[in-house]
Amino acid sequence: MIRFPALIAAVVVAASPLAATPPMDELRDAPAAKPAPAAAVIRIPRRPTTQRPAVLDRRIESKIEQLLKRMTLEEKLGQLQQLGDDGKGGHIEAAKKGRLGSTLSISGAAKLNEIQRANMEHSRLKIPVLFAHDVIHGFRTIFPIPLGEAAMWDPEAAEKASAVAAAEAGAAGLRWTFAPMVDIARDPRWGRIAEGAGEDPYLGAAMARARVRGFQGSDPSAPDKLLACAKHWIGYGAAEGGRDYNSTDMSLRTMREIYFPPFKAAVDAGVATFMSAFNDLNGVPSSGNAFTLTQVLRGEWGFTGFVVSDYESVRELIPHGFAKDAADAARLGLASGVDMEMVSRTYAENAPKLLEKGLLSQAAIDESVRRVLRQKFRAGVFERPYADEAAEKTAFLKPEYVRLARENAARSFVLLKNEKGLLPLEGPGRTIAVIGPLADDASAMLGTWAGEGKKEDAVTILQGLKSEAPAGTKIRHARGCDADCKTTDGFAAAVDAARNADVVVAVVGETGDMNGEAASRSTLDLPGRQLELVQALHATGKPVVAVLVNGRPLTIGWLAENVPAILETWHAGVQAGPAVADALFGRVTPGGKLPVTFPRTVGQVPIYYNQKTTGRPPTMDDWVKERYVSRYQDLPLGPLYEFGFGLSYTTFRLSDFALSATSIKPDGRITAKVAVENTGARDGDEVVQLYIRRPSASVTRPVRELKGFKRVSLKPGETREVAFDLGPADLGFLGPNLEFGVEPGIVEAYAGTSSSGGLKAFFEIVAR
Ligand code: BGC
Repeated sequence: MIRFPALIAAVVVAASPLAATPPMDELRDAPAAKPAPAAAVIRIPRRPTTQRPAVLDRRIESKIEQLLKRMTLEEKLGQLQQLGDDGKGGHIEAAKKGRLGSTLSISGAAKLNEIQRANMEHSRLKIPVLFAHDVIHGFRTIFPIPLGEAAMWDPEAAEKASAVAAAEAGAAGLRWTFAPMVDIARDPRWGRIAEGAGEDPYLGAAMARARVRGFQGSDPSAPDKLLACAKHWIGYGAAEGGRDYNSTDMSLRTMREIYFPPFKAAVDAGVATFMSAFNDLNGVPSSGNAFTLTQVLRGEWGFTGFVVSDYESVRELIPHGFAKDAADAARLGLASGVDMEMVSRTYAENAPKLLEKGLLSQAAIDESVRRVLRQKFRAGVFERPYADEAAEKTAFLKPEYVRLARENAARSFVLLKNEKGLLPLEGPGRTIAVIGPLADDASAMLGTWAGEGKKEDAVTILQGLKSEAPAGTKIRHARGCDADCKTTDGFAAAVDAARNADVVVAVVGETGDMNGEAASRSTLDLPGRQLELVQALHATGKPVVAVLVNGRPLTIGWLAENVPAILETWHAGVQAGPAVADALFGRVTPGGKLPVTFPRTVGQVPIYYNQKTTGRPPTMDDWVKERYVSRYQDLPLGPLYEFGFGLSYTTFRLSDFALSATSIKPDGRITAKVAVENTGARDGDEVVQLYIRRPSASVTRPVRELKGFKRVSLKPGETREVAFDLGPADLGFLGPNLEFGVEPGIVEAYAGTSSSGGLKAFFEIVAR
């Protein structure tokens, strides 16, 4: 089956136990590699982006220039202003005067048509308003939160969900979404980890591309498409202490290698806009940062779209201590490359004076206006300024959308534990006690940033289990406590229900409000006394299945040790209930994998799989025997569940890991192939993951880096060969001077089913 002539013996790296050891134990197997002399580094030019100015449409550019010639300064500044509904009709008045470039957080065809009419019927130049909204994981049909979506490890499925979101939002008159949020997050205390794709740049880039494609399609002017927005540029996810809006300080290497890639992927996928972040970055706030907004984004990457500030983030340059006053904030925002201002009005109010004083150039304003108009043409608003109010009536929650929501929800679930095959709960006649604060909480199913999602549309886990249970199943329910679980008053009824059941499904975790924006937490434990509730249920002696509803990794060590089954379901959307039923009753086999590390305790944070080895990597789980190594005295090695981890109701085996060559040139390519077999008795999905590592190089490299993955569905006994093609973009890295290149030396490749263990092979990159 493996057809390569040059096979290199692959070795099996012991898959770590559940409480995974980081892959440092594998370092011992590495062959001694000669360090590559810096002079041997071969520079491979970066691939050109799809957004070089050369691809600009000349016809549109000339229309833009004609408009620019006719615009007054006020009208130009109007194009750079985005406003929400202030409740006093301010946006309507601004539209009439041609001073409203865009709106946010207003949706619905009739409402938006009214604003557009004010603009088209009264403004001098009739430049249509661009309507934006946070359509993050669905508009009315709410899909799993983005962190859950990433857990599918299936970009195509994510693309489909974004396409549905775009179709619904487009019908509601919107033309632009503030998504995808592509911030890398290595700190689960930060509540906004829920909105992104987790900790890894490769997975994050794949999800970014998929979601941009889903929202924009090949032509964002189609009525069922939206302009997308890569946010929050940049470093927002690295907020110190995980405290939202806090400052970030990181090396340029980390910024470029870890935080940039999903944004670059969005640019390459043709994303229309970027949003500048709230945070201070190495001493320069992101919304006034010429290095990131202009030098990198436009200079290096050739981005031709426009940048919108985050909510008042231009005005916030003042409290940052970066701008003296509002005029100074406007100057810094515009000069650094923030084209459109969200909500605050420092541009509109101060730019005329700044121009007069020579503190700002007309050229800078014109360039920002050009960028905004270019995307308005691209969004098709000049040809089609109004939404179809009749079509909107039948646009939402179509059966095929709801079906996809159910499929994606089930695809996002990660089975963390399943002792003695407790799951699935098959067969008739069981009594199931469904307990917990989140079992019947419709809002918690939707999660944070749920667009125009309605809790009436969401099917809760209790409802799903009731309607989908096998014949003869009895369901008992008790809440136990609220999500913040301050008292134990409801525990007795919950324990009583558990005692009278065959199995307990404990639905615990977070409400949607407990994560997302401004929802940082200093602990990752189950909120309040929820753990005590599960402990009381466990004490009945009945088997407990913990179903987690949450938007961040939680510290669930007690559950991992004591309850026989744990299913991570995130905030799974409108079809959470039926999807949980599909998984628990075995109609679907969970196949998701963690897109982020689950720590043992909050004290381990930041903890992520692609760490460095250090000079003293620990290799054994015994601190007395091995004291002076990099580890905690009071914790076993590694995380609770590693990145890429997830179980199944069936079993898989990887074999025949082979590389197409023993050595390649720096500009060469290599293919890694591995066979995956379903060795169990049920249909199931495995996510085959490919990692690489440089055991020595001119700069230290991570213990592993994800470079490929593929989710495959297999029937019992079925085998599939999965191939990964690696080239300079995958094998290169930033050298000592932060220049990208491919260095000669040994490369280790790992094929696995998580970031730990797996099969291992080597090849060498040889100088030309
Ligand atoms: C958030 C953005 C969001 C914006 C508009 C801000 O507070 O940081 O992610 O797009 O509001 O709602």
